[in-house]
Amino acid sequence: MEQEKLAALRAREREGRDPTCADETLAYMLQTAAQIGAERILEIGAGKGLTSLAFALAFPQAHITAVERDALRAQTARENIAAFGAEERITLLEGEAAEILPCLEGEYDLIFLDAAKVQYRRFFPDCKRLLRRGGVLFSDDVLLFADGVPPKRRMLARHIEEYLQMLSEDGEFSTEVLPLGAGLAVSRRIR
Ligand SMILES: C[S@@+](CC[C@H](N)C(=O)[O-])C[C@H]1O[C@@H](n2cnc3c(N)ncnc32)[C@H](O)[C@@H]1O
Repeated sequence: MEQEKLAALRAREREGRDPTCADETLAYMLQTAAQIGAERILEIGAGKGLTSLAFALAFPQAHITAVERDALRAQTARENIAAFGAEERITLLEGEAAEILPCLEGEYDLIFLDAAKVQYRRFFPDCKRLLRRGGVLFSDDVLLFADGVPPKRRMLARHIEEYLQMLSEDGEFSTEVLPLGAGLAVSRRIR
């Protein structure tokens, strides 16, 4: 019942701007979360809270911290979270991730990075600091320009390219990029 309610919200959200992650991306993340026994989850760029809710519904023991800077989306996320009675399970932090992430403490099992792509590199040191060994960092939309880069998006494409380079060169992570949604980088913290 709750899953159906969430699926309907996800379908509606898919039509808007900055939509929720692809079904296949979500399915893969949920599967990985189950494999690693994720109980502390961080979503950066939470939109209307639908992916955080999916984690909360799938993993009753888990706690999710969700960061969203857009006031309207954060408000909708709060309403969605309340509609599922998940206020105790999801902590929504409204504000700019660049300011919020340095204030977070403790270890997370899983981090879903789905904010402005130009900021991925900037967020990576905090993601690394916050992710436990054996944990997984998911970075969404990294193959956004796999079929070619429109002239106006060259800078963004370069940011993504440099971010992927940074991930692949980091010896503490093992990264693969999967063709799920607009591309999902899966970075396992190996040391
Ligand atoms: C693609 S949407 C997120 C969708 C969401 N992860 C989901 O799967 O349902 C991207 C969101 O990231 C937020 N965002 C972008 N940059 C951010 C930043 N620097 N700090 C916080 N939120 C940010 C945007 O406001 C937007 O709501």
